[in-house]
Amino acid sequence: MQSNDIVIRPAKGLSGSVRLPGDKSISHRYAMLGGIAEGTTKLENFSTGADCASTLGCLRSLGVKWERNGGSIAIQGRSSKLQAPNSPLDCGNSGSTIRMLSGILAGQDFTSELVGDESLSRRPMARIIAPLEMMGAKIEARDGGRPPLRLTGSHLKAIDYKLPVPSAQVKTSLLFAGLFADGTTRIEEPIQTRDHGELALQAFGAQVDRRMREVSINGGQKLQAIEATIPGDISSAAFFLCAAGLFPNSQLTVPGLLLNPTRARLLDMLIGLGVRITMADLQEHHGELIGTLQVQGGSLKGARIRGGDSAALIDEIPVLAAIGPYTSDGVEIRDARELRVKESDRIASVAKNLRLMGAEVEEFDDGLRIPGGQRLHGASLDSFGDHRIAMAFAVAALRAEGDTQIQGADAAVISYPEFFKVMEGLLER
Ligand code: S3P
Repeated sequence: MQSNDIVIRPAKGLSGSVRLPGDKSISHRYAMLGGIAEGTTKLENFSTGADCASTLGCLRSLGVKWERNGGSIAIQGRSSKLQAPNSPLDCGNSGSTIRMLSGILAGQDFTSELVGDESLSRRPMARIIAPLEMMGAKIEARDGGRPPLRLTGSHLKAIDYKLPVPSAQVKTSLLFAGLFADGTTRIEEPIQTRDHGELALQAFGAQVDRRMREVSINGGQKLQAIEATIPGDISSAAFFLCAAGLFPNSQLTVPGLLLNPTRARLLDMLIGLGVRITMADLQEHHGELIGTLQVQGGSLKGARIRGGDSAALIDEIPVLAAIGPYTSDGVEIRDARELRVKESDRIASVAKNLRLMGAEVEEFDDGLRIPGGQRLHGASLDSFGDHRIAMAFAVAALRAEGDTQIQGADAAVISYPEFFKVMEGLLER
């Protein structure tokens, strides 16, 4: 066994209280906007994941000064104007960093090179290159649109743009670029995606107009620094919520959790499966809904995830699929082709690991069908270098017969470095 591997033993339940580190999507956005705002942005409960550290690293290379003390971070904004970097910007594993930062860099008067790890270097960037070039930036990429990117910013002009794929990263990238453009940038999305970009811009004082699936922003607006406590990451909580759902005797409390309606479809899905969930202490902070969840396990029925649900649940599908065999009616996922271009091909990764555990799985180009009522056995699995696959199969392993080894489990550092330790503390054996 290598030091990057982990062994998960079966459990009998999961109980206790867990507070999650700050949401990854919001941490990226607040850090980037803090870097171009006027004044010092002070954030509490900043994401502990390596992805957000990549964003901070890039900001430092762009002349943004920040100081971090655990979850607290103070970012000195540079009032719109970043400094030309003197080495490539390392985005690590982070699609959010490369795509959203490109929107800001498109409006700067210098050239930067954005690089990433092996996984990021395989991911499609044409989806930001095309619209940012229409706005006036120049972007060279490898292989029909893969990183590294060489991006030369310019004086941008606003565009009206229909997103060909539902992607909050692309929407946010274009909204950020829109801040630097002459005129009004209008974006229409095929399905509404998470709205943290819009809410973050408004929190920093920008005016953003929002109508159903259309959002627009006027160029030339200046941002003001904010103080914020970042709500707990619901996509990280998803692993514990699903694990609690696996055991009828589970009792889990999750305070300070992000409950933004564009991110909380998982709760509807779990309630539909038979998990009992109540919400309390609801409050709003910078437009983001936050609250405390009480979760009680049940016996899981089945779920069909398709259309808009697939886009809304894109980060939670791996763990919903991983608990599929333990439901009575199974889990079916369609319209989720985007999963194939995430940190790993998540349709293939889930199917491979479930089969290694002895499950029957049907794989489609755009999803998976996992029949219910199956018994799984422990196996030696691979994370495929993908944080959400590592954590999803730690959950599947809890109800398997025998131990499960996950190779490359350290991939969890990307979004939730403390995951395995925290999960161990909640389990009943
Ligand atoms: C994110 C959007 C989603 C998601 C990713 C974070 C964001 O990606 O999978 O983990 O913060 O906007 P896409 O925009 O590629 O769908």
